[in-house]
Amino acid sequence: MIRFLPLLFLLSACGWMWDQPKVKAFREAPVEVALPEERIRFGDNLDLTARTGLKPEGGFAESPYLFAEGELLRGKTLYRSFCAICHGLTGEGDGRVIPLGMPKPRSFLDPAVRAQPEGYFYFAATNGFGRMLSYKGRIPERERWLIARYIKRCLVEEACPLEVTNAEVY
Ligand code: HEC
Repeated sequence: MIRFLPLLFLLSACGWMWDQPKVKAFREAPVEVALPEERIRFGDNLDLTARTGLKPEGGFAESPYLFAEGELLRGKTLYRSFCAICHGLTGEGDGRVIPLGMPKPRSFLDPAVRAQPEGYFYFAATNGFGRMLSYKGRIPERERWLIARYIKRCLVEEACPLEVTNAEVY
């Protein structure tokens, strides 16, 4: 009997785990949430140029957004998720589905496309282009501009930060 005494002692410590007294308070949730200043919520009245990609006097606009350099990586991820399947990883119009019968888009490196401001790529993503459909309902406005920035900086101008160029993105 004396041999079971320690066991009895151990068992007496058993109870319901959710019924323990707890004096330590949970850590307080952070109250300050930093949002990018230029973030526009769905349904807000957007600036016309931001919405259309066009200058008030006509012609394609430069991007109305000041993206942080670090955001280009997200631009790369978005481009690869939504555009690369047709336009190819380098924008040359040699995406994976072209051999399967998708019409081959013009290369972004074509002189006529290269010369275009970011609004051109934004406009195509927003409204579609010929046989290409619109991505307006699938990609938020600011992200469409971010894709345009990625195309222009990293594929057309090849002026991409090295860590973005080298980043492994599926
Ligand atoms: C399913 C295939 C497909 C996807 C995905 C796609 N495109 Fe396209 N895109 C095309 C095709 C095909 C054309 C050419 C259409 C034509 O000439 O009728 C085109 C044309 C364009 C053009 C005009 C190029 C020129 O000739 O001046 C731009 C800019 C463009 N796409 C941007 C984008 C962007 C940005 C995305 C991603 C948000 C995207 N595309 C996603 C197929 C696609």
